[in-house]
Amino acid sequence: MRRKVVYEMRPRVELGAGVDAPRGVVRRVDRPTFVSADVLKFDTTSLTLEGLCRGVAMNFLGISDRDLSQAADDAIGLAKSYWATLEGRPSYPSTSGQQTTELFSRPWPETGRGQDVLRDFTLIAEHARPSTGRFFGYVVGSGEPIGALGEFLAAVLNQNVTSWRSAPAAAAVEQTVVRWLAEAIGCAEFTGSLCGGGSAANLMALAMAREAKSPANDTGARPCVVYASEQVHMSIPKAVALLGIGRNNLRLIPVDDQFRMRPDALQAAIAADREAGNNPIAIVATVGTIVSGAIDPLHEISDIARSEELWLHIDGAYGALAALALPEKLQGLALADSLALDAHKWLYQPIDCGCLLHRHPGIARTTFSHSDDYVRTMSEDPIEAFAFFEESVELSRRFRALKLWMSLQYHGRRAFREAIAQDLRHAQLLGERVRSHPELELLAPVPLSAVCFRHRTKDNQALLRRLTARGRVYLSNATVRGQFALRACFVNHRTTEEDVHAIVSEAVAAADELNG
Ligand SMILES: Cc1ncc(COP(=O)(O)O)c(C=O)c1O
Repeated sequence: MRRKVVYEMRPRVELGAGVDAPRGVVRRVDRPTFVSADVLKFDTTSLTLEGLCRGVAMNFLGISDRDLSQAADDAIGLAKSYWATLEGRPSYPSTSGQQTTELFSRPWPETGRGQDVLRDFTLIAEHARPSTGRFFGYVVGSGEPIGALGEFLAAVLNQNVTSWRSAPAAAAVEQTVVRWLAEAIGCAEFTGSLCGGGSAANLMALAMAREAKSPANDTGARPCVVYASEQVHMSIPKAVALLGIGRNNLRLIPVDDQFRMRPDALQAAIAADREAGNNPIAIVATVGTIVSGAIDPLHEISDIARSEELWLHIDGAYGALAALALPEKLQGLALADSLALDAHKWLYQPIDCGCLLHRHPGIARTTFSHSDDYVRTMSEDPIEAFAFFEESVELSRRFRALKLWMSLQYHGRRAFREAIAQDLRHAQLLGERVRSHPELELLAPVPLSAVCFRHRTKDNQALLRRLTARGRVYLSNATVRGQFALRACFVNHRTTEEDVHAIVSEAVAAADELNG
């Protein structure tokens, strides 16, 4: 028999040692609180509070079905109205460091705010950098919404994709999407895994290179040398520092007039190191340099790597996925031993979504496998015994593959190819507009989708500050042959031709607002 009995709980109720409090009591113990015994699903006629408490498995973070459903609807409602108003938002929020600190530094409340906390999203979004079609800074993908829904659902499933045993479906989904990515760039025979981004992929790749050429895992790092162009992304010097190779042992090879690594200079640097008794281990070629999108000459570099028996890593974090739309220009990716790419850049996925591809699962295991007994898989089946942590750096891993699984299939391969092709066209269009504008100067060729330019007569730093404050387009900055450059990068599925024209008109308008 179940009778509805209502207890009135008073502040500072003594529950006694070892007695769990029923839900609703502890959460509000500082205020008189009414707890319906009905909620606790107990026959309360014969139970003291203590007995009641002892019998209940507590869930201090529990949410009723109704509240959860309401919260989920509210969250989706917020996402929908954000997406619907995205294009009307400024390209950069009008905010300051002081303002965001004042708004968002607050103590962790002792008592939960409940549903009310969802309202903070609106304020956070107002002070966030929106992924509009007029954001052209750095190399930041535009955040495809189906991918965002995939992120949400991945968090709902809360899989720990350490291995097949921990996350059977998620492991299979990840292996499939990694295969799709590898095939899409002409590296079908490669294997690999997803990771946080290009920096993580580059670090793992160089760890593998070192273990292959100058094993260090057991005995510690010995002196060795890595080669990359002077346009290399900062994640490579960071990786060599972290791996104990040392930044002084990263040789920055000069580039040609198109910012591509010069193979003759590479060959000479290796020869000089051999002559000096140093130990070359790896070359990093870049496909899509961060500043101007240059593509290093892969075939020549690969020939050198092969004849010198060096590991060839390609940093394709920015550019490799352009192979979907430009396969002829990106030939040679499969010459690599390892390759980094970023689906959160030129596949428009929500951050984070990097990927390391390679052709050496054995070396990946030598590099990353150091497992304790508590993670030993019991299965003899090769699929079920598979563990990502044996071949990559993380143990606990997010279900990153679900967003790719959903977004890539929702739109299909052709749509992504066309979106990338459109980005490439937009970059060419901006290049032409800049070239034909008397006040502007193009500072570098445009092989992919990064466009570096400057105003011929104005202070370009001041111009960029003005341009950002105007809030219509967002560009970042770079240094090209010692000159301060305004830089627009197109990895944005929302950009229209009108947005491209706005870059030029906004740059000129910002220049006109400057004195002198
Ligand atoms: C060429 C290149 N490599 C590596 C990275 C680092 O990627 P992530 O920011 O995903 O770590 C970037 C980022 O822009 C890049 O452009």
